[in-house]
Amino acid sequence: MAGDAPIEQNEGRGQWTSSLGFILAATGSAIGLGNLWKFPFITWENRGGAFVLVYLLCIVAVGLPIMMAEILIGRKTQKSAVGAMKEAFGKRWGIVGGWGVLAGFVILSYYSVIAGWSLFYFTKALGWSMSGFPQGAQLGDDFTSFAAQGGLQIGLSGLFMAATMGVVLSGVKGGIERTARILLPVLFVILILLLVSALSMSGSGQALSFIFRPNFSELGMDGLLEALGHAFFTLSLGMGAMITYGSYVAKDQSIVKASGVIVVLDTVIALVATIIMFSVIFSVPGMEEQVGGSTVGMLFISLPELFYSTVPFGRVLAPAFYILVAFAALTSTISLLEVVAAYAIDEHGIGRKKATLMTGGAIFLVTVLCALSFGGSSGLSAFEIFEGKAGVFGTLDHLASNWLLPIGGFLITLATGWFMTREDSEAELALGGVPAWYSYGAWRFFIRFVAPVAVGAILVAVIFFGVDFS
Ligand code: PHE
Repeated sequence: MAGDAPIEQNEGRGQWTSSLGFILAATGSAIGLGNLWKFPFITWENRGGAFVLVYLLCIVAVGLPIMMAEILIGRKTQKSAVGAMKEAFGKRWGIVGGWGVLAGFVILSYYSVIAGWSLFYFTKALGWSMSGFPQGAQLGDDFTSFAAQGGLQIGLSGLFMAATMGVVLSGVKGGIERTARILLPVLFVILILLLVSALSMSGSGQALSFIFRPNFSELGMDGLLEALGHAFFTLSLGMGAMITYGSYVAKDQSIVKASGVIVVLDTVIALVATIIMFSVIFSVPGMEEQVGGSTVGMLFISLPELFYSTVPFGRVLAPAFYILVAFAALTSTISLLEVVAAYAIDEHGIGRKKATLMTGGAIFLVTVLCALSFGGSSGLSAFEIFEGKAGVFGTLDHLASNWLLPIGGFLITLATGWFMTREDSEAELALGGVPAWYSYGAWRFFIRFVAPVAVGAILVAVIFFGVDFS
């Protein structure tokens, strides 16, 4: 039987226990700080409606086809990013996988700093809920001094990295899938509670019309391109995370169905998070002006106070909200580390434990630099390569969103659309059955033409017009 050998080999590498296990793990990767922190903020900056509509178009026209392509490459080859690209398209394409490993390395190094903040604010919110929110607190100033405490920042991100390593160490089933199976349901429940509370607030009507009523005169070219760039980030595309997760999918499971579910869940959660935050903000007169200032402002400066002053059941919901952010971030950091660790495991034959410790340790060295770039070290905070993106943190976020993901995504869509035969991709996508909305012809058209042109447009915009997506 031709199928026997690869199946045995898979069991050695690890495999999801079921289609649901895969869907939860991949959805956990997709849902993260991108949904809870970045999306509400860029929606705010781009004045809502029209931006949201364009973002949804990007998700459907570019995100969904590339999601299917990445999982397809992983499942077909049963290898992680580098090995999969080599096997599916030829040796040279291994470099695209390597590009993804680099992106995973870079994103994880700064992502874990913000993830650490959510842990800190969780403990703070617990304290406020128990002993009362301080009158006249200066949360903006508090935040600035908190971010500048180097030792604390290193400790928090280190804690988060240790948790991430602990999960990846324990393997695909026992670590990654198990964590997602526990954390995702908790995340959904907390979000529903927050949503119910937010919708009962006076600002919810205004929030909904801000988010869903398009006004195209508000949307510029850069907003359009920002929506596309964010579609990559939020779906964990362009860097091999879905290739790697796809490599643990069994041959009898449906890639198309799973992709549909992952994309819908990620999108719904981003919208729900935005509805929650905006309902709170619009319920307080004068809050609108205060919020705009910074990306961290909304989550760590404006919201804490509002939980205790305005949100119904805020004392319970505030700590729940920050632990939600931490959980969402954890299921994403796991996937980032898994891309790098699986590369070391598959391509260099290193055992999972050792590979996790080595790669996680190396990434943490860069995390230390990021953790010190919010005032902890003046040199690291002022350091500037990209204009207007001061500090190691800002530089790496810019590098990843503007360069690594779009270029990686562009090459992956080119490879799948033009360098894999029709028979191969059609057969792989058909395994395990397909849902009613699926048409192979449509997917092929999107992956060959629509996605590369759209992503190519981002790259051209960045290179020639200097548009910024971070
Ligand atoms: N998708 C994650 C988020 O929205 C971030 C991420 C990017 C995770 C790339 C893995 C790979 O927060």
